[in-house]
Amino acid sequence: MKSVITGSGIGIPKNLVTNEKLARIMDTTDEWIRTRSGIAQRFYADPGQSSADLGMMAAEGALQTAGRSREEIDALVFATMSPDYFFPGNGPVVQAKMGFPESLAAFDIRQQCSGFLFGLDLADSLILSGKYKRILLIGADVHTPFMPWQNGWATTIGLEDREVTAAEREANTKIRDRVVLFGDGAGAVVVEAVDDDSRGFLGSKLYTNGSNLEALYTRGVGFRLRPFVTHQQIDDSDIIPDMDGREVFRQALSKMPEAVREVCAAAGKSVSDIDILLVHQANLRIVEGVAKQLGMSQDRVPHNIERYANTTAGTLPILYHECVTEGRIKPGMLVCFTALGSGLHWGAALYRA
Ligand code: ACO
Repeated sequence: MKSVITGSGIGIPKNLVTNEKLARIMDTTDEWIRTRSGIAQRFYADPGQSSADLGMMAAEGALQTAGRSREEIDALVFATMSPDYFFPGNGPVVQAKMGFPESLAAFDIRQQCSGFLFGLDLADSLILSGKYKRILLIGADVHTPFMPWQNGWATTIGLEDREVTAAEREANTKIRDRVVLFGDGAGAVVVEAVDDDSRGFLGSKLYTNGSNLEALYTRGVGFRLRPFVTHQQIDDSDIIPDMDGREVFRQALSKMPEAVREVCAAAGKSVSDIDILLVHQANLRIVEGVAKQLGMSQDRVPHNIERYANTTAGTLPILYHECVTEGRIKPGMLVCFTALGSGLHWGAALYRA
Protein backbone atom coordinates (compact mmCIF):
# COMPACT_ATOMS: atom_id res chain seq x y z
CA MET A 1 0.00 0.00 0.00
CA LYS A 2 1.21 3.48 -0.90
CA SER A 3 0.03 7.09 -0.54
CA VAL A 4 -0.87 8.51 -3.93
CA ILE A 5 -1.91 12.01 -5.02
CA THR A 6 -5.24 11.49 -6.77
CA GLY A 7 -6.31 15.09 -7.38
CA SER A 8 -5.08 18.66 -7.27
CA GLY A 9 -6.41 22.20 -7.54
CA ILE A 10 -5.32 25.81 -7.13
CA GLY A 11 -6.78 29.01 -5.71
CA ILE A 12 -5.43 32.18 -7.28
CA PRO A 13 -6.95 35.57 -6.47
CA LYS A 14 -8.00 37.79 -9.37
CA ASN A 15 -5.85 40.90 -8.81
CA LEU A 16 -2.80 40.75 -11.07
CA VAL A 17 -0.07 43.06 -9.77
CA THR A 18 2.81 43.74 -12.13
CA ASN A 19 6.24 44.97 -11.07
CA GLU A 20 5.35 48.33 -12.62
CA LYS A 21 2.42 48.69 -10.22
CA LEU A 22 4.80 48.25 -7.29
CA ALA A 23 7.22 50.75 -8.84
CA ARG A 24 4.42 53.33 -8.59
CA ILE A 25 4.48 53.16 -4.77
CA MET A 26 8.16 52.51 -3.92
CA ASP A 27 11.64 52.95 -5.36
CA THR A 28 11.98 49.78 -7.37
CA THR A 29 12.00 48.79 -11.02
CA ASP A 30 10.69 45.96 -13.14
CA GLU A 31 14.27 45.37 -14.21
CA TRP A 32 15.58 44.99 -10.60
CA ILE A 33 12.81 42.60 -9.58
CA ARG A 34 13.14 40.45 -12.73
CA THR A 35 16.94 40.31 -12.62
CA ARG A 36 17.23 39.53 -8.90
CA SER A 37 14.25 37.20 -8.50
CA GLY A 38 12.76 36.28 -11.90
CA ILE A 39 9.39 37.64 -10.79
CA ALA A 40 7.30 39.60 -13.33
CA GLN A 41 3.94 39.67 -11.53
CA ARG A 42 1.98 38.27 -8.61
CA PHE A 43 -1.68 38.06 -7.58
CA TYR A 44 -3.16 39.85 -4.55
CA ALA A 45 -6.25 38.76 -2.64
CA ASP A 46 -9.24 41.07 -2.42
CA PRO A 47 -9.78 42.78 0.93
CA GLY A 48 -11.44 40.16 3.14
CA GLN A 49 -10.24 37.26 0.98
CA SER A 50 -8.22 35.00 3.26
CA SER A 51 -5.84 32.05 3.08
CA ALA A 52 -8.76 29.78 4.02
CA ASP A 53 -10.78 31.23 1.10
CA LEU A 54 -7.98 30.58 -1.40
CA GLY A 55 -7.36 27.19 0.17
CA MET A 56 -11.04 26.25 -0.25
CA MET A 57 -10.93 27.28 -3.91
CA ALA A 58 -7.96 24.94 -4.38
CA ALA A 59 -9.61 22.20 -2.32
CA GLU A 60 -12.72 22.21 -4.52
CA GLY A 61 -10.51 21.57 -7.56
CA ALA A 62 -8.57 18.82 -5.77
CA LEU A 63 -11.75 17.02 -4.63
CA GLN A 64 -13.22 17.32 -8.10
CA THR A 65 -10.21 15.87 -9.93
CA ALA A 66 -9.87 13.12 -7.32
CA GLY A 67 -13.57 12.38 -7.76
CA ARG A 68 -14.12 12.45 -4.01
CA SER A 69 -16.98 13.81 -1.95
CA ARG A 70 -16.52 15.58 1.39
CA GLU A 71 -17.78 12.47 3.20
CA GLU A 72 -14.96 10.38 1.70
CA ILE A 73 -12.20 12.55 3.22
CA ASP A 74 -11.02 11.40 6.68
CA ALA A 75 -8.53 14.12 7.52
CA LEU A 76 -7.46 17.61 6.53
CA VAL A 77 -3.98 19.09 6.82
CA PHE A 78 -3.83 22.86 6.35
CA ALA A 79 -0.36 24.39 5.98
CA THR A 80 -0.19 28.18 6.29
CA MET A 81 1.72 30.89 8.13
CA SER A 82 -1.14 33.35 7.55
CA PRO A 83 -4.26 31.78 9.11
CA ASP A 84 -7.57 33.64 9.25
CA TYR A 85 -7.41 33.84 13.04
CA PHE A 86 -4.51 33.96 15.50
CA PHE A 87 -6.25 30.85 16.79
CA PRO A 88 -7.80 28.47 15.93
CA GLY A 89 -6.10 27.50 12.68
CA ASN A 90 -7.72 27.25 9.26
CA GLY A 91 -8.75 23.59 9.70
CA PRO A 92 -12.04 24.29 11.49
CA VAL A 93 -12.74 27.25 9.15
CA VAL A 94 -12.50 24.96 6.12
CA GLN A 95 -14.42 22.13 7.83
CA ALA A 96 -17.38 24.39 8.57
CA LYS A 97 -17.40 26.52 5.41
CA MET A 98 -16.96 23.60 3.03
CA GLY A 99 -19.41 21.44 4.95
CA PHE A 100 -17.17 18.50 5.86
CA PRO A 101 -18.67 16.11 8.42
CA GLU A 102 -17.42 16.68 11.98
CA SER A 103 -15.69 13.28 11.86
CA LEU A 104 -12.99 15.07 9.80
CA ALA A 105 -9.74 15.32 11.78
CA ALA A 106 -8.29 18.73 10.90
CA PHE A 107 -4.57 19.34 11.47
CA ASP A 108 -3.05 22.81 11.23
CA ILE A 109 0.66 23.02 10.54
CA ARG A 110 2.91 26.03 10.04
CA GLN A 111 6.26 25.40 8.45
CA GLN A 112 6.02 28.52 6.23
CA CYS A 113 7.68 27.90 2.85
CA SER A 114 8.21 24.24 3.76
CA GLY A 115 4.61 23.84 4.93
CA PHE A 116 3.36 21.85 1.96
CA LEU A 117 6.43 19.59 1.98
CA PHE A 118 5.98 18.83 5.69
CA GLY A 119 2.26 18.35 4.99
CA LEU A 120 3.04 15.73 2.33
CA ASP A 121 5.15 13.81 4.83
CA LEU A 122 2.42 14.07 7.48
CA ALA A 123 -0.28 12.92 5.05
CA ASP A 124 1.88 10.01 3.86
CA SER A 125 2.68 8.99 7.46
CA LEU A 126 -0.95 9.18 8.58
CA ILE A 127 -1.98 7.02 5.64
CA LEU A 128 0.82 4.48 6.11
CA SER A 129 -0.12 4.20 9.80
CA GLY A 130 -3.47 2.88 8.63
CA LYS A 131 -5.39 5.51 10.56
CA TYR A 132 -6.72 7.53 7.62
CA LYS A 133 -7.43 6.57 4.02
CA ARG A 134 -7.98 9.91 2.30
CA ILE A 135 -6.44 13.21 3.26
CA LEU A 136 -6.99 16.67 1.85
CA LEU A 137 -3.77 18.68 2.06
CA ILE A 138 -3.91 22.44 1.50
CA GLY A 139 -1.01 24.88 1.27
CA ALA A 140 -2.15 28.52 1.20
CA ASP A 141 -0.85 31.94 2.13
CA VAL A 142 -1.86 35.56 1.85
CA HIS A 143 1.02 38.02 2.21
CA THR A 144 -0.97 41.15 1.46
CA PRO A 145 -2.07 41.60 5.10
CA PHE A 146 1.64 42.15 5.94
CA MET A 147 1.77 45.12 3.55
CA PRO A 148 1.27 48.64 4.92
CA TRP A 149 -2.01 49.29 3.07
CA GLN A 150 -2.29 52.84 4.43
CA ASN A 151 0.72 53.75 2.25
CA GLY A 152 -1.06 53.63 -1.10
CA TRP A 153 -1.12 49.84 -1.58
CA ALA A 154 -4.79 49.98 -2.63
CA THR A 155 -3.57 51.48 -5.94
CA THR A 156 -1.96 48.12 -6.78
CA ILE A 157 -5.38 46.46 -7.06
CA GLY A 158 -7.27 49.45 -8.45
CA LEU A 159 -9.10 50.38 -5.26
CA GLU A 160 -7.46 53.82 -5.29
CA ASP A 161 -5.92 55.88 -8.05
CA ARG A 162 -3.43 58.39 -6.73
CA GLU A 163 0.26 59.10 -6.49
CA VAL A 164 1.78 58.19 -3.12
CA THR A 165 3.28 60.93 -0.95
CA ALA A 166 7.05 61.14 -0.45
CA ALA A 167 6.66 59.79 3.11
CA GLU A 168 4.58 56.82 1.91
CA ARG A 169 7.09 56.06 -0.85
CA GLU A 170 9.94 56.17 1.67
CA ALA A 171 8.11 53.82 4.05
CA ASN A 172 7.35 51.35 1.25
CA THR A 173 10.91 51.51 -0.03
CA LYS A 174 12.24 50.47 3.40
CA ILE A 175 10.63 47.05 2.97
CA ARG A 176 11.11 46.69 -0.81
CA ASP A 177 13.63 43.87 -0.49
CA ARG A 178 10.84 41.65 0.92
CA VAL A 179 7.48 42.84 -0.35
CA VAL A 180 8.26 42.55 -4.06
CA LEU A 181 8.98 38.84 -3.64
CA PHE A 182 5.57 37.71 -2.40
CA GLY A 183 2.11 36.99 -3.76
CA ASP A 184 -1.10 35.34 -2.53
CA GLY A 185 -2.16 31.86 -3.62
CA ALA A 186 -3.07 28.32 -2.69
CA GLY A 187 -2.84 24.77 -3.90
CA ALA A 188 -4.36 21.54 -2.64
CA VAL A 189 -4.06 17.83 -3.22
CA VAL A 190 -5.97 14.73 -2.20
CA VAL A 191 -3.64 12.00 -0.94
CA GLU A 192 -5.10 8.48 -0.77
CA ALA A 193 -4.15 4.98 0.31
CA VAL A 194 -3.83 2.93 -2.89
CA ASP A 195 -3.13 -0.82 -3.16
CA ASP A 196 -0.54 -0.37 -5.88
CA ASP A 197 3.12 -0.28 -4.93
CA SER A 198 4.23 0.87 -8.36
CA ARG A 199 3.35 4.50 -7.55
CA GLY A 200 3.14 6.86 -4.60
CA PHE A 201 5.53 8.34 -2.01
CA LEU A 202 8.94 6.71 -1.74
CA GLY A 203 10.18 8.67 1.24
CA SER A 204 11.15 12.06 2.56
CA LYS A 205 13.92 13.78 4.51
CA LEU A 206 12.87 16.72 6.65
CA TYR A 207 15.06 19.04 8.70
CA THR A 208 14.64 21.87 11.18
CA ASN A 209 17.28 24.20 12.59
CA GLY A 210 15.95 26.99 14.78
CA SER A 211 19.37 28.40 15.68
CA ASN A 212 19.07 30.63 12.63
CA LEU A 213 15.44 31.56 13.28
CA GLU A 214 16.01 35.30 12.90
CA ALA A 215 17.15 34.90 9.29
CA LEU A 216 13.45 35.00 8.43
CA TYR A 217 10.82 35.80 11.06
CA THR A 218 8.32 38.33 12.32
CA ARG A 219 9.81 40.15 15.28
CA GLY A 220 6.57 41.64 16.64
CA VAL A 221 3.40 39.91 17.81
CA GLY A 222 3.95 36.70 19.75
CA PHE A 223 3.19 35.14 23.07
CA ARG A 224 6.76 35.51 24.33
CA LEU A 225 5.77 39.21 24.63
CA ARG A 226 3.41 40.71 27.20
CA PRO A 227 1.06 41.85 25.86
CA PHE A 228 1.54 39.84 22.69
CA VAL A 229 0.72 42.81 20.47
CA THR A 230 1.04 46.57 21.12
CA HIS A 231 0.51 49.80 19.19
CA GLN A 232 4.26 50.36 19.43
CA GLN A 233 5.01 47.13 17.55
CA ILE A 234 2.70 48.26 14.78
CA ASP A 235 4.19 51.78 14.69
CA ASP A 236 7.70 50.28 14.52
CA SER A 237 6.66 47.96 11.62
CA ASP A 238 7.59 44.97 13.77
CA ILE A 239 4.61 43.14 12.32
CA ILE A 240 6.32 43.02 8.91
CA PRO A 241 8.65 40.02 8.42
CA ASP A 242 12.40 40.54 8.77
CA MET A 243 14.56 38.71 6.30
CA ASP A 244 18.29 38.28 5.88
CA GLY A 245 17.88 37.62 2.16
CA ARG A 246 21.51 36.68 1.51
CA GLU A 247 21.61 34.20 4.39
CA VAL A 248 18.34 32.53 3.32
CA PHE A 249 19.64 32.43 -0.27
CA ARG A 250 22.88 30.79 0.88
CA GLN A 251 21.06 28.22 3.03
CA ALA A 252 18.61 27.42 0.23
CA LEU A 253 21.42 26.73 -2.24
CA SER A 254 23.19 24.32 0.08
CA LYS A 255 20.36 22.61 2.01
CA MET A 256 17.91 21.81 -0.80
CA PRO A 257 20.42 19.99 -3.06
CA GLU A 258 21.72 18.11 0.01
CA ALA A 259 18.19 16.97 0.96
CA VAL A 260 17.43 15.92 -2.63
CA ARG A 261 20.59 13.79 -2.73
CA GLU A 262 19.77 12.23 0.64
CA VAL A 263 16.17 11.36 -0.18
CA CYS A 264 17.33 9.75 -3.44
CA ALA A 265 20.05 7.75 -1.70
CA ALA A 266 17.61 6.52 0.98
CA ALA A 267 15.24 5.30 -1.76
CA GLY A 268 18.03 3.61 -3.74
CA LYS A 269 17.75 6.16 -6.55
CA SER A 270 20.14 8.68 -7.98
CA VAL A 271 19.51 12.32 -8.84
CA SER A 272 19.70 11.40 -12.53
CA ASP A 273 16.59 9.21 -12.02
CA ILE A 274 14.48 12.27 -11.15
CA ASP A 275 12.25 13.28 -14.07
CA ILE A 276 10.84 16.44 -12.51
CA LEU A 277 12.22 18.41 -9.57
CA LEU A 278 9.70 20.80 -7.99
CA VAL A 279 11.58 23.47 -6.01
CA HIS A 280 9.86 25.92 -3.65
CA GLN A 281 9.43 29.11 -5.67
CA ALA A 282 11.20 31.82 -3.62
CA ASN A 283 13.58 33.15 -6.25
CA LEU A 284 14.31 31.98 -9.81
CA ARG A 285 18.03 32.31 -9.08
CA ILE A 286 17.61 29.79 -6.25
CA VAL A 287 15.66 27.38 -8.48
CA GLU A 288 18.33 27.62 -11.20
CA GLY A 289 21.12 27.32 -8.63
CA VAL A 290 19.63 24.15 -7.12
CA ALA A 291 19.23 22.62 -10.61
CA LYS A 292 22.83 23.49 -11.45
CA GLN A 293 24.24 22.03 -8.24
CA LEU A 294 22.36 18.80 -8.88
CA GLY A 295 23.50 18.73 -12.50
CA MET A 296 19.90 18.76 -13.73
CA SER A 297 18.91 20.40 -16.99
CA GLN A 298 16.47 23.30 -16.64
CA ASP A 299 13.72 21.44 -18.54
CA ARG A 300 13.51 18.97 -15.62
CA VAL A 301 13.15 21.80 -13.10
CA PRO A 302 9.99 23.73 -13.99
CA HIS A 303 9.14 27.11 -12.45
CA ASN A 304 6.26 29.55 -12.33
CA ILE A 305 7.65 32.16 -9.93
CA GLU A 306 7.57 34.67 -12.80
CA ARG A 307 3.74 34.60 -12.65
CA TYR A 308 2.94 34.07 -8.98
CA ALA A 309 6.00 35.20 -6.97
CA ASN A 310 6.49 33.42 -3.64
CA THR A 311 3.15 32.19 -2.27
CA THR A 312 4.92 30.39 0.63
CA ALA A 313 2.93 27.19 1.42
CA GLY A 314 1.18 27.59 -1.94
CA THR A 315 4.16 27.36 -4.30
CA LEU A 316 4.72 23.59 -4.44
CA PRO A 317 1.07 22.52 -4.87
CA ILE A 318 0.46 25.26 -7.48
CA LEU A 319 3.53 24.14 -9.43
CA TYR A 320 2.58 20.47 -9.07
CA HIS A 321 -0.95 21.16 -10.32
CA GLU A 322 0.28 23.13 -13.32
CA CYS A 323 2.80 20.43 -14.24
CA VAL A 324 0.10 17.74 -14.07
CA THR A 325 -2.47 19.71 -16.08
CA GLU A 326 0.14 20.71 -18.69
CA GLY A 327 1.23 17.06 -19.03
CA ARG A 328 4.76 17.74 -17.75
CA ILE A 329 4.22 15.23 -14.96
CA LYS A 330 3.06 11.94 -16.47
CA PRO A 331 2.20 8.63 -14.81
CA GLY A 332 5.35 6.69 -13.97
CA MET A 333 7.60 9.74 -13.66
CA LEU A 334 9.82 10.19 -10.63
CA VAL A 335 9.01 13.55 -9.02
CA CYS A 336 10.98 15.21 -6.23
CA PHE A 337 9.62 18.03 -4.07
CA THR A 338 12.05 20.26 -2.19
CA ALA A 339 11.68 23.40 -0.08
CA LEU A 340 13.44 25.63 2.44
CA GLY A 341 11.97 28.47 4.42
CA SER A 342 11.45 30.25 7.69
CA GLY A 343 12.28 28.16 10.73
CA LEU A 344 14.55 27.23 9.13
CA HIS A 345 12.71 24.14 7.91
CA TRP A 346 13.75 22.28 4.77
CA GLY A 347 13.81 18.91 3.11
CA ALA A 348 12.78 16.82 0.12
CA ALA A 349 10.22 14.14 -0.75
CA LEU A 350 10.32 11.58 -3.55
CA TYR A 351 7.18 10.51 -5.38
CA ARG A 352 6.37 8.14 -8.25
CA ALA A 353 3.49 9.64 -10.24
N1 ACO B 1 14.10 47.26 -5.79
C1 ACO B 1 15.26 47.90 -6.04
N2 ACO B 1 16.36 47.75 -5.30
C2 ACO B 1 16.29 46.91 -4.25
C3 ACO B 1 15.12 46.21 -3.93
C4 ACO B 1 14.00 46.41 -4.75
N3 ACO B 1 12.84 45.77 -4.53
N4 ACO B 1 15.36 45.44 -2.83
C5 ACO B 1 16.64 45.66 -2.47
N5 ACO B 1 17.21 46.55 -3.33
C6 ACO B 1 18.58 47.06 -3.33
C7 ACO B 1 19.22 46.98 -1.95
O1 ACO B 1 18.86 48.11 -1.17
C8 ACO B 1 20.68 46.94 -2.28
O2 ACO B 1 21.10 48.26 -2.58
P1 ACO B 1 22.55 48.78 -2.07
O3 ACO B 1 23.53 47.87 -2.74
O4 ACO B 1 22.57 50.19 -2.55
O5 ACO B 1 22.52 48.62 -0.59
C9 ACO B 1 20.73 46.19 -3.62
O6 ACO B 1 19.39 46.23 -4.14
C10 ACO B 1 21.17 44.75 -3.49
O7 ACO B 1 20.45 44.12 -2.46
P2 ACO B 1 20.77 42.64 -2.03
O8 ACO B 1 19.96 42.29 -0.83
O9 ACO B 1 22.23 42.45 -1.98
O10 ACO B 1 20.20 41.84 -3.31
P3 ACO B 1 20.33 40.33 -3.63
O11 ACO B 1 20.86 40.15 -4.99
O12 ACO B 1 20.99 39.58 -2.51
O13 ACO B 1 18.79 39.84 -3.70
C11 ACO B 1 16.89 38.90 -2.52
C12 ACO B 1 17.92 40.04 -2.60
C13 ACO B 1 16.09 38.89 -3.78
C14 ACO B 1 16.01 39.16 -1.31
C15 ACO B 1 17.64 37.57 -2.37
O14 ACO B 1 18.58 37.67 -1.35
C16 ACO B 1 16.71 36.40 -2.05
O15 ACO B 1 15.90 36.00 -2.86
N6 ACO B 1 16.88 35.77 -0.90
C17 ACO B 1 16.08 34.57 -0.54
C18 ACO B 1 14.67 34.90 -0.22
C19 ACO B 1 13.98 33.65 0.24
O16 ACO B 1 14.27 32.56 -0.21
N7 ACO B 1 13.13 33.74 1.21
C20 ACO B 1 12.62 32.51 1.77
C21 ACO B 1 11.28 32.24 1.50
S1 ACO B 1 10.18 33.19 2.43
C22 ACO B 1 9.45 32.18 3.66
O17 ACO B 1 9.93 31.16 4.07
C23 ACO B 1 8.26 32.79 4.30
